[in-house]
Amino acid sequence: MDNAAAKVLNEIEKKIENKIENKKENKNAQDKEFFVFGGEDLAGLVCQVETGRLDVEIKDGNKVQLVNVGRLGVIASTHPDKMLVGRYERVLASEAEPGQKQNYIVSIGLIGSIVINRQKRTFKFSRSMIATPVIGSHCYLLEGEKLTLFMSSISVNDGDASLTLGKFSLDEGVDAYMNGDALFQRHMALVGSSGCGKSWTVAAIIEQIATRQSANLMVFDIHGEYQALKYAVQLRLATPTDLEQPASNVLFMPTWFMSHDELMTLFLDKSDPYAAAQSLMINECIRKRKMHYLKENNLTELLKSFTVDSPVPYDFHDIIRDLKYLNEELIPGVGQGEVVKGPFFGKFDQLLPKLEAKVTDKRYGFMFSGDKKKVLHHDYINYFTAKLMGTGINSQSGKHERKIKIFEGEQNLGVKVLNMSLAPSELLPSLIGVVGRFVFTVQFWNNHENRHPMVLFCDECHLYLPPLENCNEAQRACVFQFGRIAKEGRKYGMVLAAITQRPSDLNPSILSQCGNLLTLRLTNASDQAIVKKMMPDGMNGLVEELPLLAIGELIPIGDSVVLPLKVKVTPAKCPPTSETPTYCSTWSQEHQDGERLNIGIDNMRRQIRKSFGDGE
Ligand SMILES: Nc1ncnc2c1ncn2[C@@H]1O[C@H](COP(=O)(O)OP(=O)(O)OP(=O)(O)O)[C@@H](O)[C@H]1O
Ligand SMILES: [Mg+2]
Repeated sequence: MDNAAAKVLNEIEKKIENKIENKKENKNAQDKEFFVFGGEDLAGLVCQVETGRLDVEIKDGNKVQLVNVGRLGVIASTHPDKMLVGRYERVLASEAEPGQKQNYIVSIGLIGSIVINRQKRTFKFSRSMIATPVIGSHCYLLEGEKLTLFMSSISVNDGDASLTLGKFSLDEGVDAYMNGDALFQRHMALVGSSGCGKSWTVAAIIEQIATRQSANLMVFDIHGEYQALKYAVQLRLATPTDLEQPASNVLFMPTWFMSHDELMTLFLDKSDPYAAAQSLMINECIRKRKMHYLKENNLTELLKSFTVDSPVPYDFHDIIRDLKYLNEELIPGVGQGEVVKGPFFGKFDQLLPKLEAKVTDKRYGFMFSGDKKKVLHHDYINYFTAKLMGTGINSQSGKHERKIKIFEGEQNLGVKVLNMSLAPSELLPSLIGVVGRFVFTVQFWNNHENRHPMVLFCDECHLYLPPLENCNEAQRACVFQFGRIAKEGRKYGMVLAAITQRPSDLNPSILSQCGNLLTLRLTNASDQAIVKKMMPDGMNGLVEELPLLAIGELIPIGDSVVLPLKVKVTPAKCPPTSETPTYCSTWSQEHQDGERLNIGIDNMRRQIRKSFGDGE
C-alpha cells in the first residue's frame, strides 16, 4: 500500500471512530435527558415526612401558582433513578414576618413510586413505596411532556383486553385505558347522581365491547333509553299489541319458566288465611300438569330427574281450571247419597278472581298468551335462551381478527338490550329476578368449556337490588338471585355491572363483591363514604372532589386501572336517549302542540311506543 492510500484509509478510520464517538455522546446526552428534572421543574424541598404523606416547603411565589390541588408532583429520593409520585392535597401560605418573603407549605399524599431505566428509556410505576423521601429531598412539578409520559405509562393499551373511557382530566392528550378483563372479572359498579352520565358511560363501554366479534352482554333497560343503540339486538317482553303477531325481537316468559317460589311471589297474597294451602295445591297441580306433558310427549328420560321447578311446559289456564275444580269440589259424605264439601272447598275464593283478572289482563300477556304451539313447547326455552345469551355466531367464522363494524351499520347479535320499560312496573323486580336466575342457571349447568363469558348490565339497580332491610318480597327474591351471581358468577363466567344513583341504596353484599367502582359526581355524604372505603391510601383526598366532578367525568377505582385518576368520558357515537331537557330555552323556541298529546294517549291505550322495536 502506498502512502497516499494509507493516508486515505487513516482518514476513513478516524471518521468512523468520530462517528461512533458522536453517537455515544448523543446517546449519553439522550440518556441524560430521559425523565430528568432540572431547576425549572423544582417546586420546593421536603420539610416533613409521615407515613404515606409529606409536606414540601415552596419559597418561590411563581412556582406555587403551578401547584394546584389534585395535580401530581415527583419527589426525588436518595437513589437517582427511584422517585416518589404524590398528589397535592393542600397548599398553605405560612405567616411571614414583616419584610420577609412568604413561604408556602404543600401537603402531598403519596401514591406510588417510579423506577427509571435510563438505558432503555423506560420507567415503571408501582403503587408501593420503593423509595424513601428524606428532609430536604427535591419536589418537582410533573407537567408538560413529562406528565404525558407518566400518564401514558400508567394507562397502557393492552390490545384486545383494553377499553378506553376517554381522556385524563390531568392531561387531555392521553387516552385513559382500563383493562377490560380486570374490569369485569370481579364485577363492576358504576355510581353517580342522577343526570351525571351513568347511562352515557355505559353506552361508551358497550360501544367498544360491541366491536368485538363474540361479545356477550345484556342490558336491563328500565327506561327504554338504550333503544338508541342501533348495533344492539333490541329485545322486549310482549306488550298487549304484540300478542297476536309478535315480531322476532318479542319474547314471552310463560309461567313454566318460573320456579314455584317465583310464582308464589307473583300471585299469592300472604295475608290470605288459606295462603299455605293454596301454595301447596298450586304446587301439586303444576306438578301433575308437567308430568302429564312429559308423558304425553314421550320425554320419559326427563321424568327421572323431574321436580316441580323443572322447566317443563304447562298451560296456566289449566291450573286455574284445576283450582276452580278443587274450590267447588263435593265429595261423598258418610251417609248414603250424602255429599260434603271437598277439603279445598272455598279455599280459593279470594285467589281465583285475582288470578283470572291477571290472566285476562293483556299487560300480563307475556306470561299467559302467545302462540301455544310455540310458547308451550319445551323448545321455547332454547329459543328464549339463545336470544338472551347467544352471540349470534353459530359456526366458526375463522375470522378471529374481525372487528364488527358497528359504525357502518353492522349489528352485534351478542349485545342485547332487554327493554323492561313496557312491562308492568309492579313486576319489575320479579321479572328481572327470574331472568337473572334463568341465565345464571343455564350458565351454571353448562360444561366448563361451553361457557362463554357474559356481563349483565343492571341499570337503575337500586330499584330491584336494594339493601335487604328495605326489600319487599319480590326484591328479596331478586337480591337472592343476583347475590348468587355476585358471589359465584366469577367462576362460571357471568358477572354483574351494577349501575345506580345511590351506592348506599344498592345491596351492600352485592356492592362488596364489586372489584371495580367507577364513580361519577356524588353529592350525598353516605354515598361518598362508600367510595372512600375503596379508595387506596394517598388518594383519599380524591373523595372530596366527588361532588365537584363535571358531568361525564369519573374516577375509576379498582383492579382495572393502575391509579384512580379523573377521566373525562368521551361520549359514545351512539348515546342513549337520556338527554336532560332544557326548560327555559325550549320554551323560548317556536312550538306547536299538533298531535303531540294524542300520540301519548294513543300509545298509553296501546301500551306501546310507536318508535319501539322492529317494523314499527
Ligand atoms: N361523557 C359525557 N359527555 C358529555 N355529556 C354527557 C356525558 N355524560 C352525560 N352527559 C350529559 O348528561 C346527560 C345525562 O346523562 P345520563 O343519562 O348518562 O345520566 P344518568 O347518570 O344515567 O342519569 P339517571 O340516573 O337519571 O339515569 C346526557 O343526556 C348528556 O347530555
Ligand atoms: Mg341513566
